[in-house]
Amino acid sequence: MQKQIAVLPGDGIGPEITAEAVKCLKAVAGKFEHQFKFEYGLVGAAAIEKTGEPYPLETHQLCLRSDAVLFGAIGDPKYDNNPSAKVRPEQGLLKMRQDLGLFANIRPVELFPSLSARSPLKPERIKGVSLTVVRELTGGIYFGEPRGRNQEGNVAFDTCLYSIAEIERISRVAFKIALDTFATGERLAANPKVTLVDKANVLATSRLWREVVTRLHAEEFPEVTLEFMFVDNAAMQLVTAPANFHVILTENMFGDILSDEASVLTGSIGLLPSASYGANVQLFEPIHGSFPQAAGKNIANPLATILSAAMMLQNAFSMDKEAAALKKCCITAIENNILTEDLGGTCTTSHVGDYISRQLEDY
Ligand code: IPM
Ligand code: MG
Repeated sequence: MQKQIAVLPGDGIGPEITAEAVKCLKAVAGKFEHQFKFEYGLVGAAAIEKTGEPYPLETHQLCLRSDAVLFGAIGDPKYDNNPSAKVRPEQGLLKMRQDLGLFANIRPVELFPSLSARSPLKPERIKGVSLTVVRELTGGIYFGEPRGRNQEGNVAFDTCLYSIAEIERISRVAFKIALDTFATGERLAANPKVTLVDKANVLATSRLWREVVTRLHAEEFPEVTLEFMFVDNAAMQLVTAPANFHVILTENMFGDILSDEASVLTGSIGLLPSASYGANVQLFEPIHGSFPQAAGKNIANPLATILSAAMMLQNAFSMDKEAAALKKCCITAIENNILTEDLGGTCTTSHVGDYISRQLEDY
């Protein structure tokens, strides 16, 4: 098959980790006789420096004409410490999500048994963890208007908005993932289950979520168990009884926070891939950020990005055996201690990528 892949390395460690994922995708193409064409685009601080815009139109057009997007990371301390900066790299990420209509963000949290000692939780706590966070990505307080300051500048405000249609479309994604991952045995849950995480005891938007999800569940997915959990309790349950979760369905900001929390269960945030999709092209990115302290040092963990590339093969291209092969080679690397320092290893970023692509050649 021929596929065109847009690569948006972004900032910090973004260029290094995407380079390793591209290396592995090239190895997959060689092994399985596909043609992957990679075209690069600017995003984030890197784009601001060259064009003045964090998500230039050219990059948007590149994404739209591609079969999938591989994204690295965004963010630069230069902007974090300057609250008066007019353009910020993160605006590029948010604009990209909005302009590409990427309303569904899928963040699977999977344990690699040989790394269980790296988890800050006791082995008996994490036993059986196999969950997916389904985060709404283009609504809520991240995008709601009005936002800003009052005239005197002494009061700031953000707005959290959700429509029934926005809640319905993301909820369908979550219910389907619960059914699919259960049917394929990819998830270890006893039953397909969706936990809606909200703050319905306080927020009007959360009460709408409960109403809509309850109706949709009864009408379209009665075979899935549905439970509700307040977000503060969910934050606690994620570290006290994480194996009880299967699919966590939640709004944009709660999903942002809980997915970082969930990632530590596995031992490193450097292991978690994600997929985003919606109206157009699908996008794949590690859930971690740009880790500027490590930029250019060849020490960042490329596994989350390589695993995101495996999700791309499966979700965007329906290349099941290729995705399985790439994932298997990542597991071989992990089991053979080909690890970066976040996981207690001594390997460089490029060494991990080289090892995995060599494993693919011999696969
Ligand atoms: C993420 C990130 C982004 C978010 C930031 C960089 C704007 O934390 O993808 O989780 O908050 O969505
Ligand atoms: Mg985040």
